[in-house]
Amino acid sequence: MDDSPAPVTNEQFWDDRYRSAPAIWSGRPNPQLVANAADLAPGRALDIGAGEGADAIWLAERGWQVTAVDISGVALDRARAAAEQRGAEIAERITWVRADLAEWVPPVAAFELVSVQFMHLTSDVRVPLYDRCIAAVAPGGTALIVGHHVSDLQTTIRRPQLPDLYFEPADVAATLPGDWRVLEAGTSPRMTHDATGAEVQIHDAVLVARRAG
Ligand SMILES: C[S@@+](CC[C@H](N)C(=O)[O-])C[C@H]1O[C@@H](n2cnc3c(N)ncnc32)[C@H](O)[C@@H]1O
Repeated sequence: MDDSPAPVTNEQFWDDRYRSAPAIWSGRPNPQLVANAADLAPGRALDIGAGEGADAIWLAERGWQVTAVDISGVALDRARAAAEQRGAEIAERITWVRADLAEWVPPVAAFELVSVQFMHLTSDVRVPLYDRCIAAVAPGGTALIVGHHVSDLQTTIRRPQLPDLYFEPADVAATLPGDWRVLEAGTSPRMTHDATGAEVQIHDAVLVARRAG
């Protein structure tokens, strides 16, 4: 996803953003989700900030029971419709939850996969949210946390110029309890194009960690 996330987390902002176009995102699952979840045995998944639902639908198509949370009712209506287009069996595997993740508390130890993709929140909201996400992972489960890396601010790609919106995977890894194993905590480069069409290398921040079973 190459578009600029916004430092605003309220429902009105996101509903307006989604209403501004028939589709904001590509409709394809995020690459780090595909890379890290394709070989996992399906179980219960939590998709944090599910947006238009591409990740949740991809997981449901692989047999996961998905809880997909987002603040935007516009995005969730779109996501639900996209899931229904895939058929009742897929749609029924996904529970769409409209909630403010600054406050929403997931059930503890309840998911074999918790996926957080491109949730650029200020640290006062993000750090406790990530703590709750980690607590939501069941024994043997996986946490996958992905975002734009702060080094993208030095490129010509459009990003909010607020370093607090970006996380370092190592900082999140350092918060993990002792029964966790870090599989990846670093950056992953990819090529994209800036607003002028020039090719730019950007980096995703990626944390993959597994709780002992
Ligand atoms: C940059 S988009 C990422 C969407 C999706 N994860 C993806 O990668 O395609 C951020 C998403 O987080 C949602 N969001 C932002 N702040 C939120 C909050 N406080 N509570 C719940 N959802 C929020 C937005 O509505 C939006 O769908």
